[in-house]
Amino acid sequence: MSAPRGPGHPDPFSPGDTVLLVDRKDRRYMVTLQAGGRFHYHAGILEHDALIGCPEGVTVRSSGRSALLALRPTAADWTVKAPRGAQVVYPKDQAMIVALADLGPGATVVEAGAGSGALTCALLRAVGPTGAVTSFEIRDEHADVAERNVEARCGGRPPNWRLRRGDVADGVDGESCDRLVLDLLDPAAVVKSGADALRPGGILVAYTPTVTQVVRLHEALVADGRWGLRHTTETLVRGWHVEGQSVRPDHRMVAHTAFLTTARRLAAPTR
Ligand SMILES: C[S@@+](CC[C@H](N)C(=O)[O-])C[C@H]1O[C@@H](n2cnc3c(N)ncnc32)[C@H](O)[C@@H]1O
Repeated sequence: MSAPRGPGHPDPFSPGDTVLLVDRKDRRYMVTLQAGGRFHYHAGILEHDALIGCPEGVTVRSSGRSALLALRPTAADWTVKAPRGAQVVYPKDQAMIVALADLGPGATVVEAGAGSGALTCALLRAVGPTGAVTSFEIRDEHADVAERNVEARCGGRPPNWRLRRGDVADGVDGESCDRLVLDLLDPAAVVKSGADALRPGGILVAYTPTVTQVVRLHEALVADGRWGLRHTTETLVRGWHVEGQSVRPDHRMVAHTAFLTTARRLAAPTR
């Protein structure tokens, strides 16, 4: 298996390609093309064969004469459309996590929990083939979903990804990493073992939906004594409606999802 072809790939659509279909009202559907396959939705049926051989960016019509624009999905489309077990980290926060963790090729990341594998895919992409990601997941049914989503997104099991089924608090201190990325109910419980795993200078990023989690996390970081540069942010992204003279903020936005807390692992002080 090879990784799915991304936006702008020069080849026309072929069987096995995953395609994003967008209707007139901006409703989005993701389908994997099969010769002779059919996509059924409220406006009729689209024969997969109508897309096979067409260039990306083509508009085709369903049996009900409704237009569908066909594009290769972006990483953000995969995040929103992929099957999920646990709630996923949305693209706006994925992007900030990659930036705040200063993730780049070659980084070694420990992540918990894997959930639906959405953030895992962003981490794997950021560290590239020379980096490595180890993901902990305590619930088997979530680990199964993460495994399926990562394999679909990467076109097979990435050799630089390890999925560890179990409690991160029990296993992380045996790891060695330069980034620690936490999206679980109680990140404060991972501060001590996480500090054992993270090399001095390394970066912790924790995604927590509530203020009480943020407070507990900061208290745990202070109490542990091996952390500096503690900081918490929130990312709000507001779309704009731009149509002729009607230029204004969208009425709706995804506002609060979670707080992002970062901290740096300190070395022991010199005498
Ligand atoms: C909100 S989900 C993570 C979603 C994931 N970041 C994504 O984008 O798909 C939180 C996950 O953490 C897992 N979890 C909670 N406590 C854990 C622990 N102590 N060790 C490992 N996994 C844990 C839960 O089972 C759940 O699947």
